[in-house]
Amino acid sequence: FEVKWDAVAAEKGGYEHFMLKEIHEQPRALKDTLLGRLTDYGVELQEVDLTAAEVNQFHKVYIVACGTASHAGLVGKNLIERWARMPVEVDIASEFRYRRPLIDEHTLVVVISQSGETADTLAALREAHRLGARVVAVTNVVGSSVAREADDVIYTWAGPEIAVASTKAYTTQLLGMVLLGLYLAEAKGTMPAEKSQALIAAVRELPRQAQEVLDQQEVIKKLAQSFIAVEDTFFIGRGLDWAVAMEGALKLKEISYIHAEAYAAGELKHGTLALITEETPVIGLATQRGVYEKTISNIKEVKARDAKVIGLTFAGNKDMHKSVDQVVYLPETLDELAPILTVIPLQLLAYYVSVARGCDVDKPRNLAKSVTVE
Ligand code: G6P
Repeated sequence: FEVKWDAVAAEKGGYEHFMLKEIHEQPRALKDTLLGRLTDYGVELQEVDLTAAEVNQFHKVYIVACGTASHAGLVGKNLIERWARMPVEVDIASEFRYRRPLIDEHTLVVVISQSGETADTLAALREAHRLGARVVAVTNVVGSSVAREADDVIYTWAGPEIAVASTKAYTTQLLGMVLLGLYLAEAKGTMPAEKSQALIAAVRELPRQAQEVLDQQEVIKKLAQSFIAVEDTFFIGRGLDWAVAMEGALKLKEISYIHAEAYAAGELKHGTLALITEETPVIGLATQRGVYEKTISNIKEVKARDAKVIGLTFAGNKDMHKSVDQVVYLPETLDELAPILTVIPLQLLAYYVSVARGCDVDKPRNLAKSVTVE
């Protein structure tokens, strides 16, 4: 079925900017994207027609996208490898097409595109088809070129996204990755029933938990004030937190024009630590339980260089405040689902920093919502 969009939804609805409105629409967008797709034991994807036999003959998965959508792909890689035990490579569409990728009929190509019209992504899809791959599209626009040309489609029901900086499209793309990961794992028989039940129960909580994160808006707004005169900043994390760090850094760069870099927390000591001073605020993401202690030690390394650190972690990690200057706590979920909640404070941070610096939030300089030229 389809979730209908109406003309009113395309207006600002009382918010100062489309971006803020779209950030706040995430609980609803997540809910719509899940509608009719979860059973007690697995997922149902109506426009995906891959049989278990077909899934089992894939040797490899490529996820191809641009910008924010490619960051959703990085999360997708982690989930598909973890759950379905299939090797996944993520590629930026403009690179993929020109590097003679190793693709044949045993390859599954997943293209992610909010608009479904990005020229490089569309060209990558066509190249994948030419080489014999099966193509699944994750897109937000019904009837878009990507949706029409792919073999299978997972629609994200984010609704129209007007602000150039993508927010609700990204979180619903993450949910698309979760759904696809579960679907592939089911076909491969790689996930025990208790695990999929626990995941599905946790996924159902996400729209409500996203609202809980949004309810902390004022805290983030205050934090944003300390970024007004900042020139460089780092977002650090491990595993899925690193993938979210990339999206957080991109948001800040896009709309506030502050130089931001995402770094794997364990890699800082191999060079970049030299750039960290008291002038370089660091956002430390520490949601992944398996590497929590290690991430905290990495955060202590940057604290030792006098950086001001803002930490993001689950509400249960009460000790984090000892290692950072300020903590933003997130509702508890499974590690694999954390990105959907972790990115929300980063979106709000970028938004309020952009407003505080007097930037054009919805239409940042030199950027377009949809890039239909190469
Ligand atoms: C443009 C937008 C980005 C977006 C990217 C991919 O660069 O400014 O926000 O992530 O295109 O767009 P798509 O519609 O393919 O997701």
